[in-house]
Amino acid sequence: MKAKLTKTTELKKPNPYAVMLMDEYEGRAFDEDKVQTLKGKWRKELFQTQPNDYPIDVEIGTGNGYFFAHRSSTNLDRGLLGFEVKYKPLIQAMRRALRAGAKENAYMLRYNAYELVEVFEKEEINNVFIHHPDPWPRKKHWKHRLIQDDFLKELMTLMKPGSFVEFKTDDEPYFDWALERFQRSDFTMDFITRDLHNSKLAEVNFKTHFEKIFLAKGQPIFYLKVFKK
Ligand SMILES: C[S@@+](CC[C@H](N)C(=O)[O-])C[C@H]1O[C@@H](n2cnc3c(N)ncnc32)[C@H](O)[C@@H]1O
Repeated sequence: MKAKLTKTTELKKPNPYAVMLMDEYEGRAFDEDKVQTLKGKWRKELFQTQPNDYPIDVEIGTGNGYFFAHRSSTNLDRGLLGFEVKYKPLIQAMRRALRAGAKENAYMLRYNAYELVEVFEKEEINNVFIHHPDPWPRKKHWKHRLIQDDFLKELMTLMKPGSFVEFKTDDEPYFDWALERFQRSDFTMDFITRDLHNSKLAEVNFKTHFEKIFLAKGQPIFYLKVFKK
């Protein structure tokens, strides 16, 4: 379900992190209005010194940004745009990435990730990371889950052929829900595991903040990766 967010510029009492977004982090973290102006122009406006085919990856729901910082600082030859709706983790993610050594390749977006079609043109983005999205466990809230048939259809049109989506969660019912939808989408399944940390990817996988919490409780992590052929 596409819940509406209050725009940052319309907040009656912006918290200190919302103020930082508009002030200190202007140019590195973008509010909703700025995000919309960049649709179809991300390469031209942000990555103008890069080749025309410069890859732009997307992370949905960065939280406080451990993966965002790791990925952007270890892949300086790729852009990374992080989506987050909460101001504090959004600023933490941007700050962490800069401290880790990200350069002009990493940016944070205050935008509702359900509305990706308002942010990107057809085939504007490359790989997409979705790590531990809110599982919305109660049946009456399933409509709030990010992974829906329509969302996957839209996502597929926005991605370049040859790029992938990586999805992981600690919540088995949500994983089953997502798996069903990915399998009936036009994406091609590449890898599925119901225990990421006892799979062939265990060594290369980067543990996110939420992942560490669930691992510490002894819970398995569910993982899938699909390609747009
Ligand atoms: C459970 S946390 C996971 C954070 C991080 N990926 C990790 O694995 O540690 C989910 C994050 O997604 C963000 N989020 C929820 N709905 C969102 C939306 N519609 N658009 C962008 N971010 C969203 C939340 O604010 C939260 O920080």
